Amino acid sequence: MAREGRLLVGILFGGRSAEHEVSIVSAQGVMAAIDQDRFRAAPMGVTKEGTWLTPRETQAALDAIKGERMASLSAGRQGLEETRARGFSGQALTVLRKVDVLLPLVHGTYGEDGSLQGLLEILGIPYVGAGVTASALGMDKALQQMVLRQAGLPVPPSLVVTWPQWKNEMNAVVRQVESELGYPCFVKPANGGSSIGTVKAHSQQDLTNGLAEALRYDRKALVEQAIDGRHIECSVLGNDDPQASPLGEIVFARDFYDYVAKYEDPRTRLIIPADLPPQVSERLQALAITVFKTIDCAGMGRVDFFVTHDGQVYINEINTIPGFTPMSMYPKLWETAGLSYSDLITRLIELGLERHQEKQRRA
Ligand SMILES: Nc1ncnc2c1ncn2[C@@H]1O[C@H](COP(=O)(O)OP(=O)(O)O)[C@@H](O)[C@H]1O
Ligand SMILES: [Mg+2]
Repeated sequence: MAREGRLLVGILFGGRSAEHEVSIVSAQGVMAAIDQDRFRAAPMGVTKEGTWLTPRETQAALDAIKGERMASLSAGRQGLEETRARGFSGQALTVLRKVDVLLPLVHGTYGEDGSLQGLLEILGIPYVGAGVTASALGMDKALQQMVLRQAGLPVPPSLVVTWPQWKNEMNAVVRQVESELGYPCFVKPANGGSSIGTVKAHSQQDLTNGLAEALRYDRKALVEQAIDGRHIECSVLGNDDPQASPLGEIVFARDFYDYVAKYEDPRTRLIIPADLPPQVSERLQALAITVFKTIDCAGMGRVDFFVTHDGQVYINEINTIPGFTPMSMYPKLWETAGLSYSDLITRLIELGLERHQEKQRRA
């Protein structure tokens, strides 16, 4: 395609989430790899305070943190003090309206939970990835599990604890967890990510502390039976006919795959492809596609599993905006399948556009 006919792709990243810094690395990777012959990338950063920066402001903010590892976009540091808490302004709307398609690389709240997708639907802007419902289900682990369990899919036994329940019936909650799940169990905010606010509880004391901690992040917590198993992940790509990638394994040297294991511990390794018997791999790939379809996902999704030593399989979760740095599991798995990082970005943009066109045909 001719250079002048290039599509303007908004790359939205950063934001008010705990995964702000990772999101910047993903966006930088995409901007360096996107096919310049077909696309023109407009970087759209959102600061930690929630200010949507213009592409020019974003570039200035990125230049200011060049070379720093896991830095955050701060509107203050490049003399944009007035933008500190501008939020979503008319200016942001103007920029957004100009893009031909938006690629959201914002993890967590406001990016991955359906709210951004809702805004884009209202504005009629094509975008990459899951729609409103799938995004919301991808984000809310309690609802996600309910839907997957209802579909007959294997998820760990779990209980949902809301803040009012915890406040009013603490003892009953503890008794129920102990009789139905036992220790160790995992306690996490229902809407979270990067293992933030997640604890592995080995005792009543841990459980009580863990629930208090998780309920600081969210009004709903999830308590799950701990599954002792390998961490296997599968990338899914497509709309109506999604494909599953080869599998990857995460090996870490901590109690579980916590924030430090994810982003800081040099001992954490991704093993690609995972060493699994072919029939287990096939089962996981088929399950990954089923999970993707069950929550009505689109574009991309990374489905994470636990595989126990006696071969039992559990779905841990699906992530609708998985880590997308060039070193992340999602693109790495596709690379093994012969799809480069650059071509993956192109494919995702095409899928976003296809979905938009299809919706318009219906409407
Ligand atoms: N039921 C469970 N059994 C074993 N490990 C778990 C369980 N739930 C969570 N974990 C551990 O905690 C990590 C983070 O939990 P997860 O549900 O994946 O949330 P996040 O969205 O933060 O990644 C997992 O990768 C895993 O190491
Ligand atoms: Mg996870």
